[in-house]
Amino acid sequence: MQRLSVAQARKEESIGKEALIQGWVRTRRDSKGGFSFLEINDGSCLNNVQVIADQNLSNYESDIKKLGTGACVGVVGTVEKSPAKGQATEVRAQSITVYGVSDPETYPIQKKGATFEFLRTIAHLRPRTNTFGAIARVRNCVCKSIHDFFQEQGFLYIHPPIITASDCEGAGQMFKVTTLDLEKPPRQGPSIDFTKDFFGRPAFLTVSGQLEAETLACAMGKVYTFGPTFRAENSNTARHLAEFWMVEPEMAFYDLEDNMTLAEAFIKRIITDALTRCEEDMKFFTERIDKEILSRLEGILKSEFLRLSYTEAVDVLQKSGQTFEFPVSWGADLQSEHERFLTEVHFKKPVILFNYPRTIKPFYMRVNDDGKTVRAMDVLVPGVGEIIGGSQREERLEVLEERMKETGLDPKGYWWYLDLRRYGTVPHSGFGLGLERTILFLTGMANIRDVIPFPRTPGSAEF
Ligand code: 4AD
Ligand code: MG
Repeated sequence: MQRLSVAQARKEESIGKEALIQGWVRTRRDSKGGFSFLEINDGSCLNNVQVIADQNLSNYESDIKKLGTGACVGVVGTVEKSPAKGQATEVRAQSITVYGVSDPETYPIQKKGATFEFLRTIAHLRPRTNTFGAIARVRNCVCKSIHDFFQEQGFLYIHPPIITASDCEGAGQMFKVTTLDLEKPPRQGPSIDFTKDFFGRPAFLTVSGQLEAETLACAMGKVYTFGPTFRAENSNTARHLAEFWMVEPEMAFYDLEDNMTLAEAFIKRIITDALTRCEEDMKFFTERIDKEILSRLEGILKSEFLRLSYTEAVDVLQKSGQTFEFPVSWGADLQSEHERFLTEVHFKKPVILFNYPRTIKPFYMRVNDDGKTVRAMDVLVPGVGEIIGGSQREERLEVLEERMKETGLDPKGYWWYLDLRRYGTVPHSGFGLGLERTILFLTGMANIRDVIPFPRTPGSAEF
């Protein structure tokens, strides 16, 4: 017996086929005429397939008429042309196997009106809702675009370690990895003796694979990483996770301009693919989540990102006449309210800000000739703010050592990173795109906890 996904069974070309369709019951409706309609979904697409279960089925009274939302079934039947509107096909069941019942009294997802906050408390069941199914498919689509985009351009997919001794962003927001007994750690004087720990030294979960990616770029040319990263920053915002996925391309011989051009093409490719490969889901987000999503994304594809120096941006903000919660002054980091003003109110399009003050950016960014700014770039998009952070890297050994000391890092611990500047140093650049922020941007969802299946945030790791 041929198996058809719900997506396949909904297609006109399946009419006439006899098939097995397996999935979860979304609704059951009993008709007076002696049959029931079952709406079945299996995650293959947003919509359900309608199954007609006749009273002559042997288990009609015993099983079918008791099926509740969430029950799991296998239907053997014929795909027919549907007289109903909104669907090309329906399935006339010859037999239905119930794999798992679901008690409608206690099933946590009731018909309508469950808030996203509530659904977070049942993260194990929320993929069965329309919204979370659509998010899972769009997320998958973005991951495919990421690989397609870089593979087509000859980038190598590389794998930096998840456990590391280096703090790439130098922000001290790392989770420690240890096998020491926290009740009785070995001590050397007043300090904990990490030479007795698993790795013989303190080790952490990575905040970024960039430093290791640079080592491969300095041998292979163009590389990218794509994996989970971890930050122990205690920010309970709708844009921060303690565990998130990041894509980090790193390119030898690229300067900051090349880096910006690549970032823009990359984002546009992700949008194009989502609009074409996930048409039905994207329409759903426009209808249910944010009615401007489709027109906004289409507009972005048609225009160029604006490139603006940090200094010019500060000027625009100061002259805007807008009152911000955080005042704007040259040298201070931009807040989300400033980023959103620039992209949503003032320029109404994505903006790439570059040449930030050195004092607010990590040690690895190339220092400009003015000595005050570094060749950093942040890509800001409407609805989200910063989606990409990147830079041209400091390739001069002495300047890099100086910057490390300035930012409180011990160059000795980064001897291998400095070796890249000692032996055949090269101008190079790269950036990091946050996957979850990208999904927020594409779907119009408001909270980052809703675009990753199991969000990790301060105080929360239940599932
Ligand atoms: O700007 P960030 O910190 O840059 C880096 O980590 C560089 N090492 C990247 C590179 O040049 N290879 O982070 C990059 C992106 C941000 O723009 C944002 O989209 C995302 O990662 N991001 C987060 N996403 C969710 N939760 C968090 N706590 C995030 N922190 C950063
Ligand atoms: Mg950043």
